[in-house]
Amino acid sequence: MYRTHTCGELRATHLNQQVTLSGWVQKSRELGGMTFVDVRDRYGITQLVFDLSKNAELAQLARDLGREYVISVSGKVIERQSKNSKMPTGDIEILVSYLTILNKSEVPPFTIEDNSDGGDELRMKYRYLDLRRNPLQKSMELRHNMGIEVRNFLHKEGFFEIETPYLIKSTPEGARDFVVPSRMNANQFYALPQSPQTFKQLLMVAGYDRYFQIVRCFRDEDLRADRQPEFTQIDCEMAFVERDDILNTFEKMTKHLFKTVKNLEFEYEFPKMAYDDAMTFYGSDKPDIRFDMKFVEITHLAKGKGFVVFDSAAYVAGIVATGCAGYSRKETDQLTEFVKKPQIGAKGMVYVKYETDGTFKSSVDKFFDADALKSWANAMEAKPGDLLLILSGDKTQTQKALCELRLEMGERLGLRNKNKFAPLWVVDFPLLEWNEEAHRFFAMHHPFTSPKPEDMDKFDTNPGAIKANAYDLVINGVEIGGGSIRIHDRELQAKMFNALGFTTEEAEDQFGFLLNAFRYGAPPHGGVAFGFDRLVSLFAGFDSIRDVIAFPKNNSGRDVMIDSPSAIANTQLEELFLTLKKPQNLK
Ligand code: AMO
Repeated sequence: MYRTHTCGELRATHLNQQVTLSGWVQKSRELGGMTFVDVRDRYGITQLVFDLSKNAELAQLARDLGREYVISVSGKVIERQSKNSKMPTGDIEILVSYLTILNKSEVPPFTIEDNSDGGDELRMKYRYLDLRRNPLQKSMELRHNMGIEVRNFLHKEGFFEIETPYLIKSTPEGARDFVVPSRMNANQFYALPQSPQTFKQLLMVAGYDRYFQIVRCFRDEDLRADRQPEFTQIDCEMAFVERDDILNTFEKMTKHLFKTVKNLEFEYEFPKMAYDDAMTFYGSDKPDIRFDMKFVEITHLAKGKGFVVFDSAAYVAGIVATGCAGYSRKETDQLTEFVKKPQIGAKGMVYVKYETDGTFKSSVDKFFDADALKSWANAMEAKPGDLLLILSGDKTQTQKALCELRLEMGERLGLRNKNKFAPLWVVDFPLLEWNEEAHRFFAMHHPFTSPKPEDMDKFDTNPGAIKANAYDLVINGVEIGGGSIRIHDRELQAKMFNALGFTTEEAEDQFGFLLNAFRYGAPPHGGVAFGFDRLVSLFAGFDSIRDVIAFPKNNSGRDVMIDSPSAIANTQLEELFLTLKKPQNLK
């Protein structure tokens, strides 16, 4: 028998019992004639003790154990001389009478400790060793528990989990597809699904009015901390529902997860914020509302005083950093440098210190007197002791930069507490987005998103102003999920394709299967998909979703452990009727 208990299980209540444990050697040390070895498995760590005076041969074997050796030991549970209150097993140790080395290990390339000495790339290469570390094991456990709770909840609500295929035809979701050549159908390709969007709609036509799936999705897009080329969604669709039926169901699911996994209760309804308001007050469609610091536009107050930067700007707006009037020159300079970074893109920043004595000090004193500055402070509802930070320029770009500045100030002021959760629904997104390069509208979500009923007549007059019956769930500035009520009416769908510049043939070619299905009694339906990796990493308090994915890719989309992507054999290429072209910039 390899084990009677796990390495995290034994307590003082087990004293004097004969036990057998198996696990990995965490570390060993010698003290007088005693050898102490910590043995670890995913449940915890137990201290083993070998007494040279009692069994010299065994103690010698113990001395030769290396880190990460796999061992099995038997012995008696005894009370520890120096107890360790930080370890759950810290009251006891095992006086070992029998030791087997089940497998030796080479010296691992980094320490298997909570805070490892290994760098990112090294830990990715040896991910199976990294996964032995406690923080990653905790995150895998959290992910598992959340998956179970999602299934429990949705099962109780009458949802069926139904699998949909991975080898499909390209779905229109905005990113590039990963494609797979077909051997049996020469020169034809499957696409991996960016999401099961069209299939879940087909399931609604098929009468499965509550569907969900915890499903892998594949998108060939630029990667970031919260984006992986393959990621997991909690994908859902419902028939015979209106927007609020969906929002209520998935708000309930989110609350269920917070309650069962984090023991947190939300006694209130998640706020709903219109997309336009999110942009106006936070410059983002995923506002972090753990803190206020809303934008206040002061264009009308700032123009016409001879300050050319403001006079030439379409938009002047700022935020109030409460209690920061005492910022030093160095600190305001740092903020100016921050907004001028290329990825943020502001040309400069104006600050106004509303001193505690009621006077003003600003970087634009030459152009604005105390009355003018006071009028800004009033408009921005600033109090003595506050610092006003103001940006100007093109409206969209300035809002984007101000959004970054707001988040930076939130960070500096400790307002982005990872243990606080501030969910909201962002609703009423625009249906269409104008693309200057392609000179046409694109669907902001996807072409099956329904417009709001009151905007239907704008297809002919002002398509850019149509709002969609679409929504996102945002928590702490992270887009956790998104969805919409779908179009199920053929005439409306035709209008939508028309607005997107598709001919009837193009629409048939790409989406014929769905349009056909819609001829046979498509019920009104809608749905949502949550980014499962993002949700788990938010719950875990991590900044990157990599930390909640067992085998993630790096920022170039590579799995450095299995060395993928990689070349394939010529015979495989031939079977697939493929010839390779050398990319121009590859030597
Ligand atoms: P959407 O494209 O908004 O909607 O995706 C839903 C959610 O999936 C997560 N997500 C990602 N997570 C990690 N890496 C990525 N590359 C990535 N891309 C998206 C986000 C996002 O909110 N079919 C629609 C849903 C619907 O309309 O029902 C869809 O996929 O958290």
